[in-house]
Amino acid sequence: MATLGVNIDHIANVRQARKTIEPDPVQFAFLAELGGADSITVHLREDRRHIQDRDLILLKKTIKTKLNLEMAATQEMREIALDILPDYVTIVPEKREEVTTEGGLDISARKDFFKKYVDIFREKDICVSAFIDPLKSQIEASSEVGFNYIELHTGTYAALKGREQYEELQRITECSYFASNFGLTINAGHGLNYQNVSHIASINKINELNIGHSIVSRALAVGLEKSVRDMKALIQNKQFK
Ligand code: PXP
Repeated sequence: MATLGVNIDHIANVRQARKTIEPDPVQFAFLAELGGADSITVHLREDRRHIQDRDLILLKKTIKTKLNLEMAATQEMREIALDILPDYVTIVPEKREEVTTEGGLDISARKDFFKKYVDIFREKDICVSAFIDPLKSQIEASSEVGFNYIELHTGTYAALKGREQYEELQRITECSYFASNFGLTINAGHGLNYQNVSHIASINKINELNIGHSIVSRALAVGLEKSVRDMKALIQNKQFK
């Protein structure tokens, strides 16, 4: 059975919209763990548009599950990761102009670069994962380079419908079995929601699913009514529970 990694970047997105102190992703990581999250994922972006360095420091000190740091393969991020020592590092491609991560890394085109980049983490016993598209060539290259984990990009699956979505599911399933032959641990994520997760979750080679947007969206849906009720009670000088 796959475990659940909860990506809390969107909590920080709301905070950064006002550049204030709430909502605090550190408190929400605690709530996610209370709900059963098996790990907490944050993406520290070069432009610090959501998660801040302070969040990472506090998360490392406070979370009780595992910390998965998503980051670009830069010198700056490597120094931060080696300082914080998260449980996992997931390397993702990063473009300043993108709204969210678009597509997987091209490991096969830059094997020498990634080999050097990954070696240092392995020396420190930090598991390193490559976020890749479900392609056998990228899986082979990830294994060759020395990644211990891969995260298969499910964004294309999530965006498709009907027969095309089924074919993409088949591709992800085949790639999961293919990757397990290399001894890689297989995670998956991006675009997974309450409608499309079950087929991916039933691929028995998948270790963990990383999900953010749909969980945070649902938190707003299931929580907004009470938060409005509480505010109204205060305005009417009533107690709220
Ligand atoms: N995995 C990776 C590598 C990501 O970059 C993201 C988005 O930050 C996710 C998983 C989660 O995607 P979503 O927010 O669509 O659930």
